[in-house]
Amino acid sequence: MTAHGRAGDDAVNFDVGKDQRVDFFLPTAAWERQIVGVTSRKSNGAEILPTHTAALFNAAVERAAELLRAGEVVALPTETVYGLAANALDPAAVARIFEVKGRPSHNPIIIHVSDLAMAREFVADWPVAAEKLAQSFWPGPLTLVLPRAAGISDSVTAGGPTVGVRWPSHPFMQAVIRRCGFPLAAPSANPSNSISPTNAAHVNETLGARIKLIVDGGQSQVGIESTVLDVTSCPPTVLRPGMIHAESLLAALGEIGLRTSAGAEPGALKSPGQLKKHYSPKARLVIMSWNDDAELASRLGALGASPAQTQVIAYSHIPSMSDLGGVSVIPHDAEAYARALYAELHRCDAEGALWIVVETLPEGSEWQAIADRLRRAAG
Ligand code: TXA
Ligand code: MG
Repeated sequence: MTAHGRAGDDAVNFDVGKDQRVDFFLPTAAWERQIVGVTSRKSNGAEILPTHTAALFNAAVERAAELLRAGEVVALPTETVYGLAANALDPAAVARIFEVKGRPSHNPIIIHVSDLAMAREFVADWPVAAEKLAQSFWPGPLTLVLPRAAGISDSVTAGGPTVGVRWPSHPFMQAVIRRCGFPLAAPSANPSNSISPTNAAHVNETLGARIKLIVDGGQSQVGIESTVLDVTSCPPTVLRPGMIHAESLLAALGEIGLRTSAGAEPGALKSPGQLKKHYSPKARLVIMSWNDDAELASRLGALGASPAQTQVIAYSHIPSMSDLGGVSVIPHDAEAYARALYAELHRCDAEGALWIVVETLPEGSEWQAIADRLRRAAG
């Protein structure tokens, strides 16, 4: 088992074997100092604050709120992926997000709120569909696109008439927003076009040198980005699939219905972030199926992929060839798969793979968002 399971920071993960309990012998204060010391040594420049005790959690909330009030950009955990947050009501702070990420200025940013009242304050309309969806899925991994209210500037919406709003369920994100009293604009905390981070170490690798603070809130529990739903259309339109999938949305919306094909109208790119190639690892990613090692080997040969430079991510046909760069067994369950996926892609890149071969996914609505992310990663 892992003690103090702050994924991504092996300095405080103690592998003590199966089913064993760990009792720490250090007094709490010394233990905390030790962790802070360890994590800051590993940082690329940013302060990295842990949150796994009440005292550390509260201290990190104070520090994050202090920086956010001062107009800084900080990386915070959410249940989907880590976010790069700034005061949504401060256009200069929001502009810094674009700068740090290298994000194109035409791509709008989601605002994060800590309750329904805050959500409603920053939208100009709250249709029945929004109410039903919020009641069913908030706090959680669902973003609602609605007409923006006057307080939301062009810097957040990229000049558009709408704003994406999400009430995240991660307790740290909720606590910081409550402490600040303003909504937080936050895209995923990765350089534009690369894979979203699902732990603090992922953020540190790519953005640690550009920001002052990364709060370590553990491994993101959902693991892929929120479902984005345009509620200005009737019926609402899915702009980005997520783990809250079409069937669940339909169940909540009832007779209002749902449109799942945002791309169907040519010229109307309603979610500019949904460009085809997005969320990409450095390695070339291919999705394929095989029945046995011989078939996989011949398919790699046909691709021109050297096995030693190939990482395989599989859930049912697990290869046993010894010449592969690596094989990773990923859960055969959509929720667990989503939680693990980005960390696997980050790991493949860190190991210098030239090829990532991912086994073809099962069918079913719970796999749609994962299939979407893999298609984009494959470009
Ligand atoms: O789970 C998530 O949504 C994470 C966490 C941090 O909350 N955030 C996230 O943000 O994935 P980002 O910026 O990486 O992706 C947001 C997507 C983009 O595709 C963007 O174009 C779209 O949502 N979006 C944001 N505001 C929009 C709006 N007003 N209208 C249409 N699409 C919007
Ligand atoms: Mg993103």
